[in-house]
Amino acid sequence: MSLKNCMTPDTRDCHDDSPLLMRRGRPDDIDRALDFERHLSPGTRYFRFGKMQDLGFDRDRLAGLFNPDDDHNIHYIVTIAVDSREIMIASGRLVIPSAGSSGEMLIVVGDDWQGRGVGRRLVTQLCQEAIVRNVHTVYCQVLPTNRRMQTFMRSCGFKPAINPCHELLLRFEKLV
Ligand SMILES: CC(C)(COP(=O)(O)OP(=O)(O)OC[C@H]1O[C@@H](n2cnc3c(N)ncnc32)[C@H](O)[C@@H]1OP(=O)(O)O)[C@@H](O)C(=O)NCCC(=O)NCCS
Repeated sequence: MSLKNCMTPDTRDCHDDSPLLMRRGRPDDIDRALDFERHLSPGTRYFRFGKMQDLGFDRDRLAGLFNPDDDHNIHYIVTIAVDSREIMIASGRLVIPSAGSSGEMLIVVGDDWQGRGVGRRLVTQLCQEAIVRNVHTVYCQVLPTNRRMQTFMRSCGFKPAINPCHELLLRFEKLV
């Protein structure tokens, strides 16, 4: 895959003058999300989804992830406007299985937007959503090879913890 094809579509020349919009995902974002996922580099895809290719996303599966009224799946996306089109550049979800439980955070920023503060903004927002819902612990499961995410987690105030769910994945958690 060429570098060009790895990048978020149509956003290469507008990093510095495009305001970012962070909002809850909604049903009409499904095409945006498919486009976003298609343009992730294999490395980013692997760190987020554990697979480099063929994620097998389809519209039916995504539909459940883009319900702005779902209190168990708080999904925020970040977008920019390009030529009057809204392009997705990042996604962050907080999954809360049941009331009073801890929330798992799942986050991915498009390759050419990484290192620009987008991930931090998503984490801040998702932690605020946790507080509003009386979720006291937010955690993330991270591949041991994902050093960047580990540094990022620490910089957002998360601490390493024993992972009761998965012996191979590292767990970072934060009391919010
Ligand atoms: C990890 C990830 C979510 C971070 O989001 P981001 O938007 O790139 O991070 P930010 O720009 O908000 O960075 C916040 C902090 O993270 C750390 N950080 C970010 N990029 C880094 C890098 N390349 N190397 C080391 N630390 C880095 C820094 O401490 C930074 O703090 P600073 O802004 O004070 O310098 C993003 O890089 C990503 O999507 N990676 C691929 C998918 C992935 O790994 N998802 C997590 C699955 S568990």
